[in-house]
Amino acid sequence: MSDEAVKYLLDDSEMPTQWYNVVADLPTPPPPPLHPGTHQPVGPDDLSGLFPPELIAQEVTAERFVEIPRAVREVYRLWRPSPLFRARRLEAKLATPARIYYKYEGVSPAGSHKTNTSVPQAYYNSINGITRLTTETGAGQWGTALAFACSLFGMHCDVWQVGASFDSKPARRTLMETFGATVFRSPTRDTESGRAFPEGHPGSLGIAISEAVEVAAQQDDVKYALGSVLNHVLLHQTVIGEEALLQLAKAGESGADLVIGCAGGGSNLAGLTFPFVREKLAGKQNPRLIAVEPAACPTLTRGEYRYDFGDTAGLTPLMKMYTLGHDFVPSAIHAGGLRYHGMAPLVSHLVHEGHIEAVALHQNECFAAAIEFARTEGIVPAPESSHAIALARQEALACAESGEDKVIVVGLSGHGMLELGAYESYLAGGLADEALSEEALTVALAGVPQL
Ligand SMILES: Cc1ncc(COP(=O)(O)O)c(C=O)c1O
Repeated sequence: MSDEAVKYLLDDSEMPTQWYNVVADLPTPPPPPLHPGTHQPVGPDDLSGLFPPELIAQEVTAERFVEIPRAVREVYRLWRPSPLFRARRLEAKLATPARIYYKYEGVSPAGSHKTNTSVPQAYYNSINGITRLTTETGAGQWGTALAFACSLFGMHCDVWQVGASFDSKPARRTLMETFGATVFRSPTRDTESGRAFPEGHPGSLGIAISEAVEVAAQQDDVKYALGSVLNHVLLHQTVIGEEALLQLAKAGESGADLVIGCAGGGSNLAGLTFPFVREKLAGKQNPRLIAVEPAACPTLTRGEYRYDFGDTAGLTPLMKMYTLGHDFVPSAIHAGGLRYHGMAPLVSHLVHEGHIEAVALHQNECFAAAIEFARTEGIVPAPESSHAIALARQEALACAESGEDKVIVVGLSGHGMLELGAYESYLAGGLADEALSEEALTVALAGVPQL
């Protein structure tokens, strides 16, 4: 391969046939989820109202690898393996000796990594006779991904979209409807969880999850699908990191020094980094793995590691995770997919055990880095992904100072072509950089259950 290569591609035949389960390799197991009523560890029966048996089995499996069903691989093939790019133009702009690679998930039909899990989730539900899936969406990426997957497997999809995002992103709604979904502005008047909030409330992911779970729990042929946080979702995303490892080798790299991903619920970060965790634990390479979150919703950097609900109404199991409190409603920053009060228990565990680091950045810095990225690499990043790019930029500039030629791998989890309203606001100079006050944090954390 020439020195000037910018794309590292895999053949269809090199696409992973298994998902990787990091739990199998962890020195200490993650604490179990607890039943919201009894506070005892949840068993498979507790989850059967919401999820099909295959996904419940994946949620609790200790197997190192899980076979990807053929029907899922056939759909993955529409956009996988996704490309790994070398950001040569960005490197030149930053005058850095670092080698920056980005794994681009924006090539998927929905424009983000979310289809890596929506397709298997829809598949497993469809083979169990489920006719309808309910879900929440923040930025709209997950709702789009699930709508697409349901359309392939002949199921209907109901999406509760966070009110602020519903109002500001009509194109997202149209895209979900194009894939056949019905979209509700959350909070609605139709559910008990929604009616707890005043009309016109901007909503939050926690509220939208409550509404979707409440509706799914009422009917046998309706189930719920979650776009992040749970073990099986993170498992499905590991195709990202597995491919990246192969592609780095094709690029002639013996490993990475830094692997950086944005973190909302933790799924794209987990998908990219968990295969690197395996390599690290096996002593094969020693990258720093870094989660980047918004300063306005600093779950990993300022939250507490304790049991909390995944939703606002307290319908989900209690999960041991970094949390800002399930009542926390983040300010309306433009990276809607990063506005979540909690964090995947597996990511939380790995951060707590010191395997993954966390950093919080303000949105203006992220948009500035995203615009520089667009003007050098040609891709307009999703506002969520811009957090990873901004940290990679900081690290590449540090290399320019120190002269180190680090290998930096960035998760570019999606494109921002439907988020141009956010770019419009940034370019007009209209974004606020709001840090969460200590006072607001204390109030939000006061709502976390005392176990
Ligand atoms: C493009 C993109 N990246 C990242 C995220 C954050 O989610 P997660 O942390 O689960 O990857 C989202 C969520 O909507 C997203 O749309």
